[in-house]
Amino acid sequence: MNRRQAITKACLLLRRQGKEESLAKFLLMYMLDESPQLFSNSLSEQLSKEEEDKYFSLIEKHIKEDVPLSHLAGFEYFYDRKFKVTKDVLSPRMETEELIYKVIEYVKMSNKNNLKILDLCTGSGIIAITIRKELENLSLEVVASDISEAALKVAKENAILNDGDVKFIQSDIFKNINDKFDIIVSNPPYIAYDDKVTMEDNVLNYDPHLALFAEEGGMYFYREIVENAKQYLKEDGVIFFEIGYDQREKMLKLAKSNEFIAEVYKDLNGRDRMAFLKRI
Ligand SMILES: C[S@@+](CC[C@H](N)C(=O)[O-])C[C@H]1O[C@@H](n2cnc3c(N)ncnc32)[C@H](O)[C@@H]1O
Repeated sequence: MNRRQAITKACLLLRRQGKEESLAKFLLMYMLDESPQLFSNSLSEQLSKEEEDKYFSLIEKHIKEDVPLSHLAGFEYFYDRKFKVTKDVLSPRMETEELIYKVIEYVKMSNKNNLKILDLCTGSGIIAITIRKELENLSLEVVASDISEAALKVAKENAILNDGDVKFIQSDIFKNINDKFDIIVSNPPYIAYDDKVTMEDNVLNYDPHLALFAEEGGMYFYREIVENAKQYLKEDGVIFFEIGYDQREKMLKLAKSNEFIAEVYKDLNGRDRMAFLKRI
């Protein structure tokens, strides 16, 4: 069976079970660990028996157990780089690329040298590592922290995998942070526990709950960070957050009551998704 035939067969199996068919192509590409271009040019190549068996057993795992692509493959592409994903870290989400884009745009516009950037709640390290790599020609210091030692282990591996110079610190939010930064960026847990009932099983079963849920209707981390930020921000330091689509008003209020002005930006799907805070 060649690659194209395998994908067609997998699409059929997925369709019958009401599953997203596009997974068939990506899963094979991820499993063979090939770039999109190389993969697209090699669709007529034969799969070995082992490759074919492995591919269809992964397709079956997805159908039966709803295991997401990143967990089937053990990695995910984010901002065109490959990041290891395990049960200890949140699988990278497309929306987070947009947050990083905003940070990069801000750094480029600010025209400042030797910026210090802190990525709080780093998980797999995607934010810190991507910023460091995308701004490789600038002299930046990027620090990333997480409460989870297991997540930090994955983040450190991802830094090595991508040759990203990031300093990692284990910390409960700011507890072990002893510096002042130009930029704090964070995609913290922000889902209210009450929303658990509406969430899809593949998120609840495969993303760590430590990465998803937050007290205070999802606002706990934002409040802790904003209330204490001045101690960890330079005079003209700023904050970038990823936020939930329904957290705009709460974020504006939180910022105002802590002497910050906030702007909220929409993602490509038109949903409120990013907040930018600067001091009044
Ligand atoms: C939504 S995930 C974000 C991961 C990554 N930044 C991303 O964008 O994919 C939130 C992360 O916050 C971490 N976390 C949970 N509680 C924390 C705490 N009290 N202090 C620091 N990090 C925490 C979790 O371990 C998880 O890695």
